[in-house]
Amino acid sequence: MSVIAQKCPEIHVTVVDINDKRIAAWNDTDLDKLPIYEPGLPEVVKEARGRNLTFSTAVDDAIDKADMIFISVNTPTKTYGVGKGMAADLKYIELCARQIARVAKDDKIVVEKSTLPVKTAQALKNILDNTGNDVDFQIISNPEFLAEGTAIDDLLNPDRVLIGGDIHTNKGNEAVQKLVDIYAHWVDRKRLLTTNIWSSELSKLTANAFLAQRVSSINAMSEICEKTGADVDEVARAVGMDTRIGSKFLKSSVGFGGSCFQKDILNLVYISKTLGLPEVADYWEQVILMNDHQKRRFAMKMVSTLYNTVSDKKIAVLGWAFKKDTNDTRESAAIYVTDHLLNEQAKVVVYDPKVPEERIYADLDALGTRPERENRERVTVVQDPYEACENAHAISILTEWDEFKDYNWEKIHKEMYKPAFLFDGRRLLDADKIEKTGFDYYAIGK
Ligand code: UDX
Repeated sequence: MSVIAQKCPEIHVTVVDINDKRIAAWNDTDLDKLPIYEPGLPEVVKEARGRNLTFSTAVDDAIDKADMIFISVNTPTKTYGVGKGMAADLKYIELCARQIARVAKDDKIVVEKSTLPVKTAQALKNILDNTGNDVDFQIISNPEFLAEGTAIDDLLNPDRVLIGGDIHTNKGNEAVQKLVDIYAHWVDRKRLLTTNIWSSELSKLTANAFLAQRVSSINAMSEICEKTGADVDEVARAVGMDTRIGSKFLKSSVGFGGSCFQKDILNLVYISKTLGLPEVADYWEQVILMNDHQKRRFAMKMVSTLYNTVSDKKIAVLGWAFKKDTNDTRESAAIYVTDHLLNEQAKVVVYDPKVPEERIYADLDALGTRPERENRERVTVVQDPYEACENAHAISILTEWDEFKDYNWEKIHKEMYKPAFLFDGRRLLDADKIEKTGFDYYAIGK
């Protein structure tokens, strides 16, 4: 929304949230306090805020005044009832729809921005039409393809923008064109793709499933590499140069994380099951199983290398975010690797440049593996990476933060318990350089 406001000064954008603390943070004059850490975002907010970008808790008022409403609430995986652990929970979407229906006194265009299972637009339309004040609602699907850490650049230079709507009716087409005209302020019209609404909803899930599948595919190869002496980076390079395959998303890692991949694939699996397509469901579920395996395998490699026991050993975890340049930790591999290590009674010391201590404990507590007290006893969070590594038996790199590359690894090696082990879950460090430092160095796929 901030980028839309920046690029379309004549459009007034109001971002509303019922959480007043969050809105206060978005309004903070100190741009370092914005609730989301994202490179380039403070500059965009600075330019548009107070001009044509407003952050507010007055939800009804904003609905009343808007011509177009973007629904951007979260759609987490259901943790209860039918579809538990797989289906998307549409509770927040429904609440939004009911509120819009109650408040709206004139025609509105409602844009689904959240990632939704196919056919959600139908449910939205039902609620709006049946509980509304006899005004016309046009539903549009406009899924978000930005990746965290590169969000601003992805928004400014998108590969494509997908806009799905009821394109076979005049009113539907008009609504789609209105959104097309907004993006056309800065995106080449050739990249603005309009489709029917179901295609748009399904394309988002498909794109994420294909991307996650590539990571699971290369991670599956990483295990073969470790057994055979092949090097997964070399394999990825050789395969990626085939233009039919392409080089992106072939970086082997300790497993993909983030708020989208796992959730969207589970959603796809659930949809396949409910459509009576068990083979399709199994096919996609395997992408997730492979990812879980990769995280567990990494932790177990650490344990077996440290003479089959990490009990009461100090293990440093560098990086908690699910990838670099974000403070988002949702589904981060670091959470699961740490959880496995704690099951083996390790003492874990965590350092991440952007993730606060309370988030790290909350992530571990949410797994419910052990009493919260124990997480605090066994895990320490520090602000200094060298402190994390001092006297550690092993270090694991779980997020590819650039700063990790520049550490004085020789100094770290000197101050560790010997022998000192370094496990690189992101293949971040140059193996040749590290070998000279004296570490016993292990990287995924090496
Ligand atoms: C993803 C999609 O890329 C984006 O289009 C969609 O809108 C939301 O979901 P995001 O979750 O922000 O974006 O991050 P992304 O860069 O796609 O990375 C996802 C995970 O895969 C990360 O944990 C990342 O480290 C991992 N990954 C990515 C790899 O392990 N190897 C790779 O080669 C690429």
